[in-house]
Amino acid sequence: MSQFKILIVDSYEEVSKEAFKIFKKAFDRGAKNIGLATGSTPIRLYELFIEDYKKNKIYEQLNYFNLDEYHGLVKEHPQSYYSFMQEKLFKHINARHTYIPDGNKSIEESITEYQKILDENPIDIQLLGIGNNGHIGFNEPGTPFDIKTNFVKLKNMTRQANKRFFDNDITQVPEYAITMGIADIMAAKKIVVLASGEAKAEAVQKMIQGVGTVDMPASALQKHPDVTVIVDYKAAKKLNLPYLCVDVSSTRIKIAKFNNNYMFENLVIEDIDNRDIVEIVENLIDKYLTDEMYKIGVSISGHVLNGVVNSPKLGFDNFNLERHLRKRFSKLVKVVNRANVSAYGEYKTNFSTYDSLYYMSLGTGIGGGYIANQKIVSGAHGLAGELGQIVDRASELTLEEYYHNFLKSDSNQFINGLAAAIQNIIHIVEPEVIMIDLKNPKVQPEIIEEVENKVKKFLFSWTDEIRCKIYLSKLEHESLIGMGYYMRDC
Ligand code: F6R
Repeated sequence: MSQFKILIVDSYEEVSKEAFKIFKKAFDRGAKNIGLATGSTPIRLYELFIEDYKKNKIYEQLNYFNLDEYHGLVKEHPQSYYSFMQEKLFKHINARHTYIPDGNKSIEESITEYQKILDENPIDIQLLGIGNNGHIGFNEPGTPFDIKTNFVKLKNMTRQANKRFFDNDITQVPEYAITMGIADIMAAKKIVVLASGEAKAEAVQKMIQGVGTVDMPASALQKHPDVTVIVDYKAAKKLNLPYLCVDVSSTRIKIAKFNNNYMFENLVIEDIDNRDIVEIVENLIDKYLTDEMYKIGVSISGHVLNGVVNSPKLGFDNFNLERHLRKRFSKLVKVVNRANVSAYGEYKTNFSTYDSLYYMSLGTGIGGGYIANQKIVSGAHGLAGELGQIVDRASELTLEEYYHNFLKSDSNQFINGLAAAIQNIIHIVEPEVIMIDLKNPKVQPEIIEEVENKVKKFLFSWTDEIRCKIYLSKLEHESLIGMGYYMRDC
């Protein structure tokens, strides 16, 4: 059973800050032997150590052990890991006890020497980066898990990845290295793995959720009792972990758990009835959020731009709901317009063989969402035709009154308006499919049916002239499902 503690954060900066907290705590608890790594990933963490050194001299007392070193590069070569560590950390913290394999002695000698050092100094906390191919240290795919300090021939993929440090010239990248073995890494009492960026997503997923195999050296860590993995959103992209989605309409709030877009548990529906929306949303999230869930998606009626919501009916006036929930729950949060994700839900469920779909919800007003090339396309304020909240506010009608007016209206104002809107959408956007959604839990089904019939009659008298397919939406929970897909794909 894997024991990983997984922390998924927003950015590389956050990855580094979270790692810093863990290392500080370890120093406070008496960790003396610190295992370090090179590469791009730990650089910001080392800067944080250097800043901290100004107030805290403990760094001078610690013993530092590095994972690996190229073989055959002189120590002073700017790309030797010896130079890297001096430049990025050691010379700034007055580090006195630093150990790194010697890449200039004979292979035999440097392996024996480094192994002795490691055996005599058990590592309290080991920092690791991970290669795109899953290597840890320079233990490349195929390395047995029980191997100790060893001499390795670097894989082409690793040399390609590292050539950026050697004038982009692969011939300058050494072919061999000396590295702590996987068994040495596993002997550390505590391990912290950092990864940032999409290029690491596959390796991170296989390390945590793949089968343990020598083809993926990092998967050896599955057997270690104390590993913390800190990754940003992009590096976490392929992990299959549960998440929570909330859907806030102007009448109801729904919440459900998802796993890779599959809605698997606890669809809960609450009526709003003039209650405080933020409070209901927070209480629901509180109730269903578990530690392993790392993200929360919220779809909401109204204008939403970068998580800031404007929705008069729901009582939001330029409120940054995304930031509010992120702070409250310390998870990744995305807040998006619900008509946009409804379109995505409809598209993904039944229409993904088409190129484009336009979705309109006709409730208190008009909500709109547009999908093209499999993606949500939206314009100003994150919208694609949403008028709902504004129309409702201006008319101040209840939903029943609104539909009632529509049914009894002799002038057919509504249907003419709808015709104009659809014609415009077809002319401007040319979607392959238009979905029209009239469902509303607050309006009696018979009334909806009557409205539907009227709309259908109008639409079908028309469909001959138009090139796109028009459907009435029957999907239940399309916005919640769309949010599930969106959170998986975003
Ligand atoms: C570092 C090391 C390597 C790197 C890995 C990731 O001492 O041995 O395993 O941790 O190659 O490198 P970056 O952080 O540059 O993506």
